[in-house]
Amino acid sequence: MSTLADTPLATDFPCLRREGIVYMDSAATSQTPQSVIAAMDDYYESHRGTVHRSVYALAAEATELFEGARDRIAAFVNWPANCTIFTKNATEALNLVAYSWGRANVGPGDRVVTTQLEHHSNFVPWHMLCQQTGAQLEMVEVDDEAVLDLDQLDALLQTGTVKLVAVGHVSNAAGTINPVQEIVRRAHGAGAVVVVDGSQAVPQMAVDLAELDADFYAWTGHKLYGPTGIGILHGRKALLDAMPPFLGGGHMITSVSVDEIRWGQLPAKFEAGTSNIAEAIGLGAAVDFVAALGMESIRAHERDLCAYALDRLAELPDITVMGPLDADLRGALVAFTLDIAHPHDIAEILGSSGVCVRAGHHCAQPLMQRFGVAATTRASFAVHNTRADVDALVDALHDVRKIFG
Ligand SMILES: Cc1ncc(COP(=O)(O)O)c(C=O)c1O
Repeated sequence: MSTLADTPLATDFPCLRREGIVYMDSAATSQTPQSVIAAMDDYYESHRGTVHRSVYALAAEATELFEGARDRIAAFVNWPANCTIFTKNATEALNLVAYSWGRANVGPGDRVVTTQLEHHSNFVPWHMLCQQTGAQLEMVEVDDEAVLDLDQLDALLQTGTVKLVAVGHVSNAAGTINPVQEIVRRAHGAGAVVVVDGSQAVPQMAVDLAELDADFYAWTGHKLYGPTGIGILHGRKALLDAMPPFLGGGHMITSVSVDEIRWGQLPAKFEAGTSNIAEAIGLGAAVDFVAALGMESIRAHERDLCAYALDRLAELPDITVMGPLDADLRGALVAFTLDIAHPHDIAEILGSSGVCVRAGHHCAQPLMQRFGVAATTRASFAVHNTRADVDALVDALHDVRKIFG
């Protein structure tokens, strides 16, 4: 049993103080702890000013809070702060790479490799890049347990034409934890740049970016107990320095004249306009929240819940669970279908007893096509969940079987 198991963490989340809510949709968006809300309130109530531009006390305090958050976020994943760029979300971070690095480096005859496991935000930008540049989009497939076939990756890398490999760290639809460090090693061996979508990984496991050695790593604040409207792109300095800016405007320049514009230093070069200041500060507080719990403890707790859920779900005779059946190989979610009912009907019935789960294609249609389903029902676990929540899920699924059976 994990160290978090007996901690009444749900009380840290104001929204979970509502009666009758069993929240198991953190893979879509997590709940927000009081400390994150307080940090954002504190900015609005006591330090409201814009960042970087003014010298009066409020603005200086705002800048200190904003840059302090960046420093802590960067340290949390072991990456330099000046190569840690605030974006709106993971989607914008991935598009930044696709537009800025991609348009400058990818052309006809090149291959861009992604995988069947990807969320659309790590698939559609590469599809668009290939359509617009004439490069070839390739997709590494998965086996029946939704595990990537690395032989396919090797075969593609051996062509010597792969410019970029885009892979998720943890799948939001199947739960698969990908061997990202090994993928980076192989891709680098073939001279390819690697972009990792860490949206599902950063909230649930210790991530050391220096060790992973990917060239770009994107994630999103609202899945790590942070606010909406804030995401992160970590990038390798040499690549970021060589890339053109993504958006033009204020703050991202050192000088502007009609003849010439000089770009700002990192990270300003990629942060045009007024940033989401309160949200960045909130994400800093969210990182403090998980760091205080300890990422190893969080992983142990959520792995335990996932293993327990896999055991208990096996009670249902007509269930098919997507993804690896070994909890060590998967993140903290279970996505499944029941023969007797549509995923949306299941989610609706569960919702009527307060069990909040997600139904749909989870923005992973290539994966749904691989398994011949239009949708699944997904329960995902976070620090506040307990085994009792999993029991509530399984009880509610028994009710579904009674209704449809
Ligand atoms: C694996 C993965 N990547 C990317 C995203 C996109 O996150 P955002 O919508 O915050 O950009 C999600 C969100 O569901 C996700 O699960």
